[in-house]
Amino acid sequence: MSSAREAVQAVEARDAARVARTYARVSFHPRSGRGARLLDAGGRGYWDLLAGIAVSALGHGHPRLRRALREAADGIWHVSNLYYHPAQGLLAERLTRASGLSRAFFCNSGTEANEAALKFARLRNPGRDRIVALEEGFHGRTLGALSVTGHAPYREPFAPLLPGAHFVSPNDVEALEAAVTPSTSAILLEPVMGEAGVVPLDDAFLRAARRAADRTGATLIFDEVQCGLGRTGTLFAFERSSVVPDVVTLAKPLGGGLPLGAVLLAAPFDDLLAPGQHGSTFGGNPLACALGLALLDEIEEARLLSRVSSLGVWLGAKLEALRRRVPAITAVRGCGLMWGIELDREAAPVAGRLLSSGFVVGTARKSVLRLLPPYVVPRSALSLFVRALEDALKEPTRP
Ligand SMILES: Cc1ncc(COP(=O)(O)O)c(C=O)c1O
Repeated sequence: MSSAREAVQAVEARDAARVARTYARVSFHPRSGRGARLLDAGGRGYWDLLAGIAVSALGHGHPRLRRALREAADGIWHVSNLYYHPAQGLLAERLTRASGLSRAFFCNSGTEANEAALKFARLRNPGRDRIVALEEGFHGRTLGALSVTGHAPYREPFAPLLPGAHFVSPNDVEALEAAVTPSTSAILLEPVMGEAGVVPLDDAFLRAARRAADRTGATLIFDEVQCGLGRTGTLFAFERSSVVPDVVTLAKPLGGGLPLGAVLLAAPFDDLLAPGQHGSTFGGNPLACALGLALLDEIEEARLLSRVSSLGVWLGAKLEALRRRVPAITAVRGCGLMWGIELDREAAPVAGRLLSSGFVVGTARKSVLRLLPPYVVPRSALSLFVRALEDALKEPTRP
């Protein structure tokens, strides 16, 4: 057996013996990368069409991010939120100017951003206990965010959860209007639902959510952890609609690969939040914020939003043409560089076949292949993927 093969087997054996069993890992060992290209431990190349689940928006080893990290690493790494460092305020300024919202709170992950957003909504309307969220929506694994996550198998083993969560079917305006009452604290939704299998919400549904929030005084929270920061072709996914939420949560690509989350808050929260009401030891640390600023600079200077938009239109047409040719594809949904390809079979074996052909793709629920490539992915890689997918779907499925 080659020493490279032995080395990866040792990694898998140690993981199996000592790492908590919360992940069903695939036997894939990426070791280095440039742009949308990954190399595994054996030196084999792959196109990365998943970007670490929407994190590596600029791909791997981006020169601007490497420079920003080197410069930040020469400075102080941690100051705590008791004291000041310049990058946090600069990043808050950039995010609030771009979104039209007023202030930013920084944390380390998507679930923490949603926890904070739910707490802030409670402060706005003390005592209100109802939170309206969507069936099959996903907001994270901590207890509060999990309570409002619409996928029952994630929630049920951990009951009892936060009381008051109420789930409605995505894009069902009537159900939403009926669910939002004067005791509703927050309406929480992903404008493009990721884990649900890439389900874009209709503008009419988002407008109904805005109206319901205005009618009752509930806080409208958009979870843009997966679909935000350029993924759909606009910096914020809400810009694709006519609706401005009260609160936006962000994470995944924000720290350029380091953990960083943010909650963007509309002006009514300015006077609600007081020192001591929420906090984080690591949130908004100097290294992650420096990378966040570099990410935003690159998105702007390299005009990545228009690249993502036009590539998305092109890819959508390619996938739609494939759907018409290949009966195994039952639906194609998405925008920008966020696509779900619904199959008439389980998606995981197909993703495995694509990995063998050199393409890293994700899955969502049982039967959806999910594409979240870096914004720098070459068009030629997407063309090759479409061909490889057609081939993968021709192979008979194993029982
Ligand atoms: C829409 C959405 N919200 C929240 C989360 C949770 O983020 P994290 O894993 O950083 O806690 C995710 C993660 O996939 C997500 O897709």
